[in-house]
Amino acid sequence: MIDLAFTILVFAVLAVVIIVILALFTSFIVAVFGGGPFVPTPTKEVKRILKHADIRKGDRLYDIGAGDGRFIHYSTKLYGAKATGFEIDPFVYMLARLKQILLKWKGEMVRSDFRTHSLKDADIVICYMLPNTLKKFKTKFEKELRPGCKVISYTFKVGNWKPIKILPKNKKGHKKRIYIYSVRDNSAKTRTKKKTTSKRK
Ligand SMILES: C[S@@+](CC[C@H](N)C(=O)[O-])C[C@H]1O[C@@H](n2cnc3c(N)ncnc32)[C@H](O)[C@@H]1O
Repeated sequence: MIDLAFTILVFAVLAVVIIVILALFTSFIVAVFGGGPFVPTPTKEVKRILKHADIRKGDRLYDIGAGDGRFIHYSTKLYGAKATGFEIDPFVYMLARLKQILLKWKGEMVRSDFRTHSLKDADIVICYMLPNTLKKFKTKFEKELRPGCKVISYTFKVGNWKPIKILPKNKKGHKKRIYIYSVRDNSAKTRTKKKTTSKRK
C-alpha cells in the first residue's frame, strides 16, 4: 500500500516537473519568436490606460498578446467593449480561461498567434510587447488598421510612429509610460461617423 502511494507521489511530482519545464520552454519560445514573455500590466495601469482609450460601447478592442486577459475583462466590464484577446502561449491562455471560469472574467480569449488574424475591424488595439517585435508588427498594423483606430502601447514605443499622447510615469505609482497612437490623420472622420451609431458610456 505504501509502495503504491509512493509510486503515485513520484508520478505526480514528475508530472508537475514536466509541466513546469514545458511551460518555461514554451515561454522561452514565445519570448524569442513571438512578441515577448508574459508580464502582466498592473491592474491600476490597466484601468488608467482604458480611461484614456476613449472606448465607446460596442467598440472592437483587441489585445494582441492578452496574457491572463485583464484588458479584455476590464474593457468589457467597465466600458462595454467587444473585446478579444489573442494569446500564443497555451499555459498563459489556460490561466486566462481559468480566470474566466472561476472569477467570471469577461471578454473573448483566443489561443492563437495574433499575426494570423485580421485586425481590420479594430477600434482600439492594446499592446504590451517588446520594442523590437513591435517594430516588426508595425507593417501589419499599417496594412490593416483603419483610420481612427487607436493603438495603445504600454511601456514601449511602436517603431518610429508619432504618438498623439504620452501618459507619463509619475509619483502616483504609474511606473511606465503609455503611448497612444491614432492611425493616420483622417481618423476624426471615421470616429465621428461612428459616434452617431454608438452611444458613449
Ligand atoms: C508582456 S505580456 C502582456 C500581457 C497583457 N497584455 C497585459 O498587459 O497584462 C505579452 C503577452 O503576449 C503574448 N504573445 C507574445 N507574442 C504573441 C503573438 N504573436 N500572438 C499572441 N500572443 C503573443 C505572450 O505570451 C504574453 O503573454
